[in-house]
Order: sequence, then structure tokens, then C-alpha cells
Amino acid sequence: MAETSLTVRRKRHPGSVCKRSRAPVQPSAVHSPVARKRPSSGGEGPPAETPCSNDSEEDMFGDYDSFYGNDSLLAQVDDIEHKYLLDKNMDIKAAGEIILENLQSEIHQKKQDNFSSSENMVVLKADKEDAFQMNESDPVDSNQEPTESVLDDLPSSQLLYFEKMDELSSGSRISAVSERRSKCVNSSLDKIRSPSSFCPGAEHRNRPTDFSSDSECDLFKTESLKDHLKSAMTGNAKAQTLQVSKTKQLKEAVLSEEICVARKTIESSSVDRGPFYGLPSKVKDLFGQFRGIEMLYEWQHDCLMLESLQQRKNLIYSLPTSGGKTLVAEIIILQELLCRQKDVLMILPYVAIVQEKVRGLSSFGIELGFLVEEYAGSKGRLPPVKRRIKKSLYIATIEKGHALVNSLIETERIDDLGLVVVDELHMLGEGTRGATLEITLAKILYTSKNTQIIGMSATLNNVGDLQKFLQAEYYTNNFRPVELKEYVKIRDTIYAVDSKTENGFTFSRLLNFKYSSNLEKADPDHIIALVTEVIPKYSCLIFCPTKKNCENVASMVCKYLKKEFRAHREKEKQDLIKNLKNIGNGSICPVLKQTIPFGIAYHHSGLTNDERKSIEEAYSTGVLCLLACTATLAAGVNLPARRVILRAPYVANDFLKKNQYKQMIGRAGRAGIDSAGESILIVQEKDKHLVQDLVNSPLENCYSNLLLELTKGMQSLLLSLVGLKIAVTHEEVNNFMCNTLLGVQQQLLSKEKSLSEIIKDGLENLIEKGLLKGRISEKDHNSKSTLTVTPLGKATYKGSIDLAYCNLLYRELKKGLEGLILESNLHLLYLATPYDMTSNCSPDWMIYLRQFNQLSAAEQKVADIVGVPESFITKKASGQAIRKNVDSAVVNRLYLSFVLYALLKETNIWNVSEKFNMSRGYVQNLLNSAASFASCVLHFCEELEEFWVYKALLTELTKQLTYCVKTELIPLMEVAGVLEARAKQLYNAGYKTLAHLANANPETLVKMIEHLSRRQAKQIVSSAKMLLSEKAEALQEEVEELLKVPRDIPGTY
Ligand SMILES: Nc1ncnc2c1ncn2[C@@H]1O[C@H](COP(=O)(O)OP(=O)(O)OP(=O)(O)O)[C@@H](O)[C@H]1O
Ligand SMILES: [Mg+2]
Repeated sequence: MAETSLTVRRKRHPGSVCKRSRAPVQPSAVHSPVARKRPSSGGEGPPAETPCSNDSEEDMFGDYDSFYGNDSLLAQVDDIEHKYLLDKNMDIKAAGEIILENLQSEIHQKKQDNFSSSENMVVLKADKEDAFQMNESDPVDSNQEPTESVLDDLPSSQLLYFEKMDELSSGSRISAVSERRSKCVNSSLDKIRSPSSFCPGAEHRNRPTDFSSDSECDLFKTESLKDHLKSAMTGNAKAQTLQVSKTKQLKEAVLSEEICVARKTIESSSVDRGPFYGLPSKVKDLFGQFRGIEMLYEWQHDCLMLESLQQRKNLIYSLPTSGGKTLVAEIIILQELLCRQKDVLMILPYVAIVQEKVRGLSSFGIELGFLVEEYAGSKGRLPPVKRRIKKSLYIATIEKGHALVNSLIETERIDDLGLVVVDELHMLGEGTRGATLEITLAKILYTSKNTQIIGMSATLNNVGDLQKFLQAEYYTNNFRPVELKEYVKIRDTIYAVDSKTENGFTFSRLLNFKYSSNLEKADPDHIIALVTEVIPKYSCLIFCPTKKNCENVASMVCKYLKKEFRAHREKEKQDLIKNLKNIGNGSICPVLKQTIPFGIAYHHSGLTNDERKSIEEAYSTGVLCLLACTATLAAGVNLPARRVILRAPYVANDFLKKNQYKQMIGRAGRAGIDSAGESILIVQEKDKHLVQDLVNSPLENCYSNLLLELTKGMQSLLLSLVGLKIAVTHEEVNNFMCNTLLGVQQQLLSKEKSLSEIIKDGLENLIEKGLLKGRISEKDHNSKSTLTVTPLGKATYKGSIDLAYCNLLYRELKKGLEGLILESNLHLLYLATPYDMTSNCSPDWMIYLRQFNQLSAAEQKVADIVGVPESFITKKASGQAIRKNVDSAVVNRLYLSFVLYALLKETNIWNVSEKFNMSRGYVQNLLNSAASFASCVLHFCEELEEFWVYKALLTELTKQLTYCVKTELIPLMEVAGVLEARAKQLYNAGYKTLAHLANANPETLVKMIEHLSRRQAKQIVSSAKMLLSEKAEALQEEVEELLKVPRDIPGTY
């Protein structure tokens, strides 16, 4: 068990006292009227949503005149001043704050009594611990709205006064007291923390005060305080109320003040942690509001308080599935964005998960004033727009994250990246993506010493290697909020998985079922008996080895279910069928049509994204109670499952790996969704021993893929190292490589060759390919000679082109220059068809011929130019032997470009998939890959002058491929996660532009759009607001840049 010492830092910055007052007090940086302006985020539209309404709005001081005659308040001021003068140890500025708070307290009267008084306790009676705690859980604190409205009507003189008070108080200091405590991090099940866990410093109230040396001056200020307040109030009575509503400005102002205070806290050597892990208390409210999370788990708190995190060390943390890892990462991300004012990159494994995250965090961005930018597929600008004020959270897939990091290194902006968070860190060990992730992280480690790296996963084994690679600390805990019980089923017996016993299983029960002989034949594995124990009341996932198997299982189960199952949520199931029909432009998959009335569906990559999303939503709301799915649902998805059944211990033909097994069963019993969870693995007698090994074995190790994925791994890395000037000599490259995961595991992964030899071979290969220039010597004496990248090499790494294809791509583009057929986009589409999809494509020759015959004469010429003669297609279709040697990769690629061509013409995936006899999921995947590859080819061409003409063509083509819908839907589909079907609904309901969506009222959306939940509506509006604000900011940056006066105008100094 690892022991980690935890440091709880808990001195509060005096500013955090002001924070609670909600007065528009601001640090000097945000004093100017400009700073008070509402940032463009959220634009001019109505608020996204009303935070929990508070009836205390009525007692706000709409009529400020009442102050004038408020003797009790002035008496209180007097009182406090008097008290202050008596207490020579009292910090003068804190007193100012107290007065402010008392003022507010009066304003809010009964409802907010605790608010100010408890706050005062923190300063005045620092020994009363409970006072602070009380304040932390104070309901008023979690709701800003009332005070904001108060400020709306606050006269200008009063505002000025508050600002002055803030100036007074901002200098106040309270010295730090830090406490250390050690905790065993590998403890057994944690307990949920009490509400005070939101207040890291709750246990430590006793803070000695650090008195400023200029106390006399402070005293003077205090003596005039009452007078000042009186005169300000008198002034208020006379002063005219500002015409402009200040609600929005003040909302921003209060927030920026909070953020600024928190930032100062972190920047200073002080150990104060602020109200919510150094973040404005609003963040805590938002987690409650948007996520329904009211309390942190104990481990989450402990992890956030780790000394290593406070010192900004890199960190890997590992907890079981559903342990709540995301929340910790999100809090650290917000600290970086708001307190340290640095950009953050969050790397997630799949496009769909990126989009989900963008949607989920956009509302935080809008509320807290940072940008959320999507980097997935062909989305995301390279290099990213340099923002003047707001910080950006880039949410990226592994591939896009790598491209982003490259562009930041190239533009010397990598230091802007304060933090990189990698979810599912075990992906490091998975093929090409693992190699790309390793390259990305190694580059960050090498080029930016100040960028912190945080990685998390539920399935890590050889953590030591990863720690060494990432120079990271490690935190782990066994916590899982919902207990997961593991079982295996052999014949009709259920065994509990029990690692303590010799064979790993103990008898649990016999399966209780009565099967007819017919049913026994149809369902020999007793799937029906297993699922009917839980559905329809609870939900169930069945992981199947193949796509076809998913469909078969779903069909089989519903064939034998009782009629009563149809009655359960019947109307909603009919709605779902209707929705799926809309998505399919009138058609629906016959299997789904048959299974959905029973609350059952299948889920795999053969479905379109739209279909998958509808099915996932219906499942998470309980309309569907059983999904038969492939491993696509195994990672990072929060779907409720009381029971997870593994149909067989296989994924396709391969025996299940421990990591896959853990991820799959981890879907059962998700926190906040289910109260219990269990998994049942169906095992045939013959696999019994393998399964015993599986459940008892440790998780697989995570190994570097740089060598296995040679052209996308090692070679690609070496090229970009030189290209980006990260390492330009053999020696520097060697140094760099020692710090990769491969470097750490080199002795294990390459027994024959040393790392240095591997590098030498790799560099020589790149020189041979014409991607690098320079010399690599046999001996060390030449290890310092500089290598440079050729234009082709630069284009290759800039376009993220697989090195296996870069020369081919160059040749094909060059050939295209001689006679690109532009009568239609077919020729261009061919050039943008991803090479790596050709190997698993087997054309149907009749369809090939039919499609070819439908082309115009000019289009048919494309086939000839690229190297597929008509005679070849005809002969293939008629089954004749072919003597001529035709490159099958080219033939397949052309076939795929026919599919893309049909897609762009028809914009209907269903028709096209029927026409080509391909699953619609595959067709959509092809489309998405083509969109990404088109943008890669575009970047490739941008680096090679001779290809200038392609730039405009490919820019347009990328756009067409990215959206592949009627042009009018494009602006709506730019919003993260708005897919075609939803865009159509929105468009038809009158939401035709991004601005329409950004300014939409979520409640109206819910009423107008079918199958749209309130949560989804809010997320759409937030994402649209975010995108709009991001676009507006980018334009503003451009304007600023344009108007900037150059420093080096000749003749000026
Ligand atoms: N403190 C908390 N209180 C209540 N619910 C929480 C808390 N923290 C997280 N959750 C909820 O627990 C669920 C699982 O959390 P999360 O997705 O972070 O798990 P995870 O550790 O990332 O699991 P996996 O490894 O499977 O991705 C989510 O629905 C999340 O909202
Ligand atoms: Mg997770």
C-alpha cells in the first residue's frame, strides 16, 4: 500500500472574505469600466438558465433610500469600529470588509443572516471553527442571483464606495498556517465526505493574523469609515440611478474578483486554498447545478489536497470504474484556467466523448468566463487562436491533441499550456493511438517544463513505468461508490468471482428458470433467464463478441418475452421508433423496429451516430431496458446497468483481455444512476480455465507502441522532432528518446538493438525517404551535426500524414496538377479518401460497374487517370480473369471515393449504404475519416508551394465532408453534438443560425423540439453560446492584431 502524505493548505486570503459579500469589490485589475463590461461569452442573449431561483429577491434593496434612515445599520458600523479599535490585533482592512458585509447583511435581512455574520466570524472570531463551516454550507452562498439583482439597482456612488472599500481591503493580509497530515491512500472503501468537504480549510480556523506595519494609517482610514459610509448613503439618496442595468456587468465583475483573488492565492506563496479548492464558490454551485454533485467523495478531496498537486507535480491517479475520477480532473482544470490563467488541453479517447465533454463543460465556460474549443475530426484551428483575455480549454481526441501540441510548439506558445489532462491513460498501450499519445506527452515533457500533466485510468498495472515516463506522482484508491459483484455462469450455475479461493470461483446459486425444449435450443446460454431477472424494472447491458451477434441476441430475447413487456413505457417507445424513422428519412432498421416495443435494442458501430445517440438517450432514461452491444459501449460511457452480461469471453475472435473485461463490467452500478451493480460472464465449459486465469490475472501492462507502429510511431516522431526543432542533432534526439515510454521500457521491448541504434536507423530511413537532410555518422563524433527537414518532410508532419503514404500522396497530388478533373468533386474526393481504409474494403464488382456506368464521361476519366481502367472493372464484374496488374489499393480507394461521391450528392447515408450494400455506420465512419484526412491533405498542401491550387479546393471539400448535409444545416451542426437529425428539427422549428440557438430559451426548445430533454436543451444553448463567443473573440483578436502599431516603424523609437 502506497502512503502519500497530504498537505491541507488552509489559510484563507482576506479577499475570500470579501468574496462572500458579493459586493462588487474588485481588485485593481478589474476596476476599469472596460473590465466591468460583460465579456462576450454568452453574448447579448438571455441567460442560459436561471440558477435555482431564490425568493429572497424580494427583500433586496430595490429602494436604497431606506439606508438613509437605517439607524441600526449605522449603529452596527459604529459598533464594529469601536470593537475594532479596542482590538489592537485586528486587521483594519478586514474590518472594512466586515462593515461591507454587515451592510449586505442588512440588505438581505432575515434570509441571509448567517451569510454575513458567519463570515465575520472567520475574521473576528477566528477560533470558532463552526462559524466558517456554517458559512460554507450557507444556502445563500450557493446562490448568487439575489445579490446580483441588488447590485443591479445600486447607485453609482455606492458602487464607487464598494470599489474603494475593496481597495482598502485588498491589501490586507493574513498569515499562512499550513498543516500536514498523512493518510493511507490505499485505504479500503472511502466514505462520502460531509458537506464541509467542499471547504478544504474547514478544520482549521485558527489563523494568526499578520499585521501590516502601517497600522496607524489604517487606523486613520477606519476612523473615517463611518462618516464615509454615511456620506455615501446620503449621496445615494440624491444620486441618480445609473440608467444602464448593471446586473450582467456586476455578475461578471463579482466573478472576476473571485477568480482574481483565487489566482492571487495560488500565485502567492500563501497556502490559503480559497472557498472551493482555490476556486470561486460559484464553481461548487455549478457542480451542484449541472451535475447534481453536492459532496465530494473523501478520496476526491484527499487527491485534490495532495502535496504533489499543490506543487504542480505531474500526477497519475487510478481508481476503479465509476470511482468519480472526472470530477477531480475537472476541478484541477478549472484551477488552471481561472486561477493560474493558463490554457488547458484535455485529451479523450473518442470523438463522441469529446463532443459530450464540450457540451458538458460549455455551460461552465459561459458561467466562469473561459472558452471551450473542440478539437475532433476536422474541427479545431491550428494553431489555435491566440486569445487576449479569456483562457481556452481545448478538448481533443488523441490525434487532434497531438496536432495541437505540434502547432503550439511550432509557434513557440507551448508555455501557454498550463495543464494537460489525459483520460483513459491506459490508451498509451493501444496501437497507433497509444503511439500518438506517447509522442504528444513526450513532446510536452521535453519542451515545456511548466506544463503539468495529469493522467487517469481505471485499468493500469505497470504504473512504475508510466510514472517514470511522465515524471509523475501516483495516487490510487479502491473506492467505488456502488459495489460491483462479479459472477460467472457455467451451464446453469452461477459462481461468484472470489480471488481468495484456489480456482477463483465460489458457488453462488443455481439459475432459476423453466425452459421448454424449444427455448433451450434457441437460448442455450439462458440469456433470457438472466435478463428477465432484472428487466424491465432495472436495466441491463449484454456485451456481445460481434455486431451480428448483438442483433441476433436482441431479436432472440424479444421473441420470447411476455406481451407485458410491450406495455412498459409504450408511448415513449413508439416515440423512439418515430424518432429513428425521422433520422432514417422514413426508414428504420427492421431489427430495431421489432425489438424496441419490448424495450430492447442493439448498439454497435453499424448504427449512425444519430441512431446511437437516440438509443443511448432512450436507454439512459429507462425507455429501453436492455442493450445488446459491442465493446463500443465499454469505455467512458455513463449508462446505467444494474446487470452487465458478457455473452462470451471474446471480442470478435480474440479472447477477452483483463482490461477489456474490467472496462465492460465497470458499466454496472454507476454512481448517481444505480444503487447496486453486478456482472455475469457466460462461460462454456471449454473456456473455464481460461476464464479462471482471466479473472485472477492482473491487468495487462501498458507498453510503448513506438516501435510496433513504425511509420506512425517512431519514424513520425523522429521527423517531427527535427521539423519542430525540438531535437536537431543525433545526440539531442537520443536525449529526447530516453525520456519516452519506449526509453523507459527499451530493454524489454528491443532486445537486439539499443535505443541509439534504433534512432540511427530511423533517421537514416527518413533521409532516404527524402524527408530529412543531414548526416548520421557511424561514430559519435558526428552526433552533433544538425539535421534539417525537407519541404516534403515538413508537409508530412504538419499534415499528420502516415509516413507509409507520404510519398504516394505527393506523387498523386503532383499527377493531379497535370490534369485534375474538376467537372465534379470525384477526383478531389479520390485524393482525400483515407489510405488506411482501403485494406479492409472489398468491393462488390457489380455495384462497382453500376456506379462507374452512371458517371459522366469526364468522371469516368478519373478512374483511368488514377489507374483503374474501365476494362478492369467490367472484367471483374463479369468474373473474367485479369492478366493486367492493377494496384488493388487504388481500386479499393476509387470504390470508396464512389461511396463518398454518392454521399455528397445525396446527403443521405441510408440510401448510400443500401446502394453499396454497406452498413450505415461504416458509411458514416468513412465519411468522418475522409473529412479528417481531407483536412490533413490540406495542411500537407499548405506547406508545399507547388500545391497552392489545392488549398482552396480542399478547404471547401473538407467542409462538405465534415457536414455532408444540406448547406443550411451546417451552422447548426457546428455546435458540438448537434447531429443531422437534431439540426433538421431545429431548422424546421425556425432555429436557423448559430445566433438563433445561442439566444434560444431552453424551455421553449423543449416545448418545440420532440425528444429533447431539458438537460439537452440547456447543453445545446450553452454550446451554441460558447461557439458564438469563441467566434466573436477570434474576430476581435484579428481586429486587434490588424490595428496594432508595429514597434519597428522605420524612423520611430
Ligand atoms: N462526489 C460525487 N458525488 C456524487 N456523484 C459523483 C461524485 N463524483 C462523481 N460522481 C458521479 O459518478 C459517476 C461516475 O463518475 P466518473 O465518470 O468520473 O467515473 P470514472 O472514475 O471516470 O469511471 P470510468 O473509469 O468508468 O470512466 C458520474 O455520474 C459522476 O457524475
Ligand atoms: Mg472516466
